[in-house]
Amino acid sequence: MSAVMPSSATRTHAANRFSTPMLVLHWLIFVLMAAAYATMEFRGLVPREGRFAMRAAHYSLGLAVLALVLVRIAMRRSHGAPPIVPAPSALNAAAAKAGHLALYVLMIVLPVLGWLAYGAEGRVVAPFGVPLPMPIAPNQDWVKPLEGAHEIAGKIGYVLVGLHAAAALWHHYFVRDNTLALMWPPAGRGGRSSA
Ligand code: HEM
Ligand code: HEM
Repeated sequence: MSAVMPSSATRTHAANRFSTPMLVLHWLIFVLMAAAYATMEFRGLVPREGRFAMRAAHYSLGLAVLALVLVRIAMRRSHGAPPIVPAPSALNAAAAKAGHLALYVLMIVLPVLGWLAYGAEGRVVAPFGVPLPMPIAPNQDWVKPLEGAHEIAGKIGYVLVGLHAAAALWHHYFVRDNTLALMWPPAGRGGRSSA
């Protein structure tokens, strides 16, 4: 899989993996997104009195993803991406680029739609206790369409992340290049690093 951003970006990572801040952000966002999904998918399993806390956690986790992906995009532009060795075909590289771009769009659009849906209900979201400004004027007519769009984006997210994880494992176990190692912490080198 190849870079999403211009390859002319300054390269401050070790050649055999993404820079540590990029690694941390990738896996932190993964955990936060998984937790955001879990707070909604498993909300029926908790007693009624616990559901408010589940929702509050959902909004905070989702907004944390939004904040961190903006940091990540800025960092990606300055840190660049390490090369895959051996280099993938042009088709494979283009598919990876499109997939990565779609994931970045998802990490922005999904929480923004949720925030808009919540704002349309006239509710102020207060991630980790800090109230944020309303992103939209309250309008009940928009609640259902925005919640519907948020739900569809969530489903698209499952497909994109599933394909992405499958592609990473396919590269590691079948193509046997260094793709997975690029995003793996040095201590637990899970891939065939070129280092
Ligand atoms: C990575 C971030 C997020 C993910 C993965 C995510 C995922 C989901 C999922 C899977 C649902 C259930 C849809 C359904 O089947 O009905 C949902 C519902 C919802 N989400 Fe999110 N969401 C995220 C961020 C946010 C944010 C930031 C907000 C608001 C600030 C938000 C507000 C809502 C609302 C209002 C609902 C409707 C259901 C309810 O409140 O009970 N979401 N979200
Ligand atoms: C919420 C889930 C995830 C999201 C949103 C996500 C997003 C991304 C994005 C946008 C990139 C491109 C990095 C760049 O060039 O800027 C990337 C790279 C990578 N991800 Fe994920 N990822 C997720 C989960 C996973 C999982 C579960 C795995 C492993 C099974 C994985 C393995 C990798 C690897 C190996 C790379 C670097 C190699 C490459 O260029 O494709 N990711 N991820």
